[in-house]
Amino acid sequence: MSKRAELHFDGNVYELPVLEGTENEIALDISKLRAQSGLITLDVGFKNTGSTPSAITFLNGEKGELRYRGYSIEELADKASFLEVAYLLIYGELPTEDQLTKFDTGIRNHTLVHSDVLEIMRGFPASAHPMGVLSSLICSLSAFYPNSLDPYRPAEEVDLTITRLMAKLPTIAAWSYKNEMGHPVNYPDNNLDYCSNFLKMMFSLPTYEYEIDPVVADALNKLLILHADHEQNCSAATVRIVGSAHSSLYTVIAGGINSLWGPLHGGANQAVIEMLEMIAADGGDVDKYVLKAKDRDDPFRLMGFGHRVYRNFDPRARIIKKSCDDVLEKLGVDDPMLEIAKKLEQVALEDEYFVSRKLYPNVDFYSGIIYRALGIPKEMFTVMFALGRLPGWIAQWKEMREANQPIGRPRQLYTGYTLRPYVPIEERA
Ligand code: ACO
Repeated sequence: MSKRAELHFDGNVYELPVLEGTENEIALDISKLRAQSGLITLDVGFKNTGSTPSAITFLNGEKGELRYRGYSIEELADKASFLEVAYLLIYGELPTEDQLTKFDTGIRNHTLVHSDVLEIMRGFPASAHPMGVLSSLICSLSAFYPNSLDPYRPAEEVDLTITRLMAKLPTIAAWSYKNEMGHPVNYPDNNLDYCSNFLKMMFSLPTYEYEIDPVVADALNKLLILHADHEQNCSAATVRIVGSAHSSLYTVIAGGINSLWGPLHGGANQAVIEMLEMIAADGGDVDKYVLKAKDRDDPFRLMGFGHRVYRNFDPRARIIKKSCDDVLEKLGVDDPMLEIAKKLEQVALEDEYFVSRKLYPNVDFYSGIIYRALGIPKEMFTVMFALGRLPGWIAQWKEMREANQPIGRPRQLYTGYTLRPYVPIEERA
């Protein structure tokens, strides 16, 4: 028999269904509670609220486990290519060789971006943050592909939009960097794989032909996999909400990019490096900054530390930390920021404040140090995150759309004035 819970309120008893997930997580179904009792639930910041059932990503924050469609993040990061993982997330299964070739070829054939998009980009000043340029240009694609305005078009058309997004995001991401540098943009080279193509568009100059270093391309492949999905985080929730209004997939992804940009979410990778640079410039006194982070009257926080759902090591941080050592060694890079980061981690992990709050390094703590070693400037770190997260956003949107979920529309507990009469301007104090 299925489990039920009882709510006793105001002399009445309400029975609530209890749902169970495949990993034995349990949830109280309150969807009919208001109709039955007049009660809504209140949970600011959704700290204990599930917004959807989902079969995409499993995360156990207490144990520090992460799986995409049942496969552990450790195994995928070690053995898979980013496009395989993207296919897995979007379509539910690892691709066969034929499926992967078709997916890859489709993406290679759509990497070119309409030249009018470049004209739009030319309107942005060089001081524009690449994330702002990226989200604006991705949103503008809805104008170039008006069919996407109806997300309920036949499946082949939706697949074409997905292919276009996967193909064009790296091109536009590299262009957003060129805009910042004031350099001419590079066009994609469809002979290259996903990561190599992006690197070439980023770093080639009319005066310099960038040569792809397999160590760099492999490191990028791994980083993109680690960022590819993370269940109902801030940007995934944004994607589902925007998509629930039946907006175009391009505008949905632009919404995800904007949400990711904030320093409490994906923008933390840039903030971590800025923090480490600040500590280095201040003499490298790690203890001083740990004290500041603990001081309630000081707004300073240890960026790259803490997570809404992990109460243990973020498994992605473990993989990135190891990969950081490997990549720096292979590339012969000696980055003083790595030393400061390791010292900071060690001090924080032994400190009662961080231990009692279960604050551990998250995915962003070490990723910036690898990006620096790969030659990627810090303003581009969150763009790199967006590149990795794209298939996760698409998968979250597709799942919501295929389940025909209703428009996302939370309720509120109103705390403002009750009805009062309009006051003419001459009578106002
Ligand atoms: N440094 C110092 N103290 C912290 C930190 C930190 N980085 N993170 C949390 N705390 C403290 C809080 O002050 C609070 O202390 P209190 O109980 O004494 O009031 C307690 O730990 C709980 O923190 P909350 O802010 O309530 O936790 P929440 O789940 O709302 O926030 C968040 C999670 C936003 C990630 C937070 O830990 C943070 O700001 N971290 C730094 C930014 C960061 O690295 N973000 C990237 C997250 S990963 C990602 O999105 C890709």
